[in-house]
Amino acid sequence: MLDNYKESATHRTLHINQTIENIYSTGTVVGQNGEVHKLHSAIDREEGEFLSKIIRNDPKIIKTLEVGCAYGLSSLHICLGIQERVGASHTLIDPFQYIHWDGVGIRNLDEAGIDFFDLIQVKSEFALPRLLEEKEGQFDLVFIDGWHTFDHTLIDAFYASRLLRVGGYLVVDDVSFPAVKRVIDFLKNYPCYEEYDSLDGEVSKSWKKMIARGLMSPINQKTWSQILLPSLYRRIFDDRVTRIVALQKTQEDTRNWKWHNDAF
Ligand SMILES: C[S@@+](CC[C@H](N)C(=O)[O-])C[C@H]1O[C@@H](n2cnc3c(N)ncnc32)[C@H](O)[C@@H]1O
Repeated sequence: MLDNYKESATHRTLHINQTIENIYSTGTVVGQNGEVHKLHSAIDREEGEFLSKIIRNDPKIIKTLEVGCAYGLSSLHICLGIQERVGASHTLIDPFQYIHWDGVGIRNLDEAGIDFFDLIQVKSEFALPRLLEEKEGQFDLVFIDGWHTFDHTLIDAFYASRLLRVGGYLVVDDVSFPAVKRVIDFLKNYPCYEEYDSLDGEVSKSWKKMIARGLMSPINQKTWSQILLPSLYRRIFDDRVTRIVALQKTQEDTRNWKWHNDAF
């Protein structure tokens, strides 16, 4: 019985890897009625490996939740990581899976032989509070990659923090977006979170940036770091930017009603 289970899990690993490889190498995906679409808006191979590695390194990650499925690349990577684990389940929240994404994400999961997921076709701002009523502290990993405004991301993160058990991970994509980064910078101050890992990438050097640096060159960079607001300094001098971040919930969130952090 256990041998059969292991065999089907191994078989599925191959299937999922093949599905992922096929999508990245062709740069295309197929919709529910066979229409071919160009791949876009998805996490790339490196970000996928970042997610998979977190899961590989912690065998206690079994129940996962994701906001924003689109063509299903992050879902495939998450499911690849948990699928051999007994009790594995993946919950996806995406109101537009069939309206905007032609059901591609779900088709990919089906094609890869994944049968332990549950799609909630409701906006996260409605779905997450409902989920919290039943599943407070029950998820091992939450991945946020939905609507990238500051307020949407903050709301997703607020509920995710309560849906996670202590020891669980909050992973947020597109941290290079200033609005998303603000949320992450805020969350990093919570006593219940510690940064677990992150993935950096190069930012393109725009002509505006290069002109600004040219004009500022008579004074050395260290002096500018003391004169300028940190956000402006980063915009002009930083050539690397964080793309995806994982925070670990290391304790219960026990902030009182007047908690704030002067450092923020
Ligand atoms: C960047 S894409 C996600 C990409 C996906 N994680 C991947 O790596 O393949 C953003 C997704 O957020 C979804 N979305 C937009 N608004 C949303 C909302 N209010 N609640 C939940 N999902 C939302 C979109 O339908 C889209 O699928």
